[in-house]
Amino acid sequence: MTTAQFWGDYAQTKPSPRETNAAGERTWFNWTQYPEHGPDEEILCRQGFGMPERALELGCGSGRNIAHLASRGVTSVGLDLSDVQLSRARAKWGDVERLHFVQMEATEFLGKTEDRYDAVFSIFGALWFTDPAVSLPLVHDHLNPGGVLAFSHAPAIDGCYGAQGAYKGRFAGAPPILRRWAYTPQMWTGILLNYGFMDVSAVILPAPHAGDLGTLHVRAVRI
Ligand SMILES: C[S@@+](CC[C@H](N)C(=O)[O-])C[C@H]1O[C@@H](n2cnc3c(N)ncnc32)[C@H](O)[C@@H]1O
Repeated sequence: MTTAQFWGDYAQTKPSPRETNAAGERTWFNWTQYPEHGPDEEILCRQGFGMPERALELGCGSGRNIAHLASRGVTSVGLDLSDVQLSRARAKWGDVERLHFVQMEATEFLGKTEDRYDAVFSIFGALWFTDPAVSLPLVHDHLNPGGVLAFSHAPAIDGCYGAQGAYKGRFAGAPPILRRWAYTPQMWTGILLNYGFMDVSAVILPAPHAGDLGTLHVRAVRI
């Protein structure tokens, strides 16, 4: 099974996203695994500017976050390697102006495109599943000066840092492999400074209910 097939199967297991949020809006931003929880899209603003003019989401899935940015006037690209995820995204958000979807692996796309962005972000997305030694220099090269990188995903498990690999399914035949990278907020800060980012904020956002798993949230600025 290929990685794209794995993510296509994952998409089939996800319940359909809610049509509207508590405020009755069709699009909204959600950095965490909990509904309507965490910061909003304003953290993608460059200092002294308003919303980014151009933004890229790496691993956009069914696309609601990037559709929300486009609805706020941002020229937006939602990238995902899964055709299943992107066909859902196109079916749902194909009518949104300034929004484009690209089906490609994130580091392959960043290695090929000449485009530059004011914000690059990833929500439980491709930046969790790619080696930061590969992805961060590419993201840095494709951000405009002062541009913002932001990402979120589950926090590292205590003592389990760096590359994590797991077979998905049975240990027989050719099971799909899932790789992801896990670091503490302090480690992320060091890594991002090392790759030429500044003003790094890396935190674990507490869950809405005490005792539940929080969310790693990282924001950094390209020098
Ligand atoms: C857990 S889902 C999250 C989707 C979406 N960001 C959300 O919050 O609902 C992870 C997504 O990242 C995509 N993905 C994983 N690795 C990727 C990579 N290297 N390049 C592009 N997309 C990737 C998967 O296809 C999947 O749609």
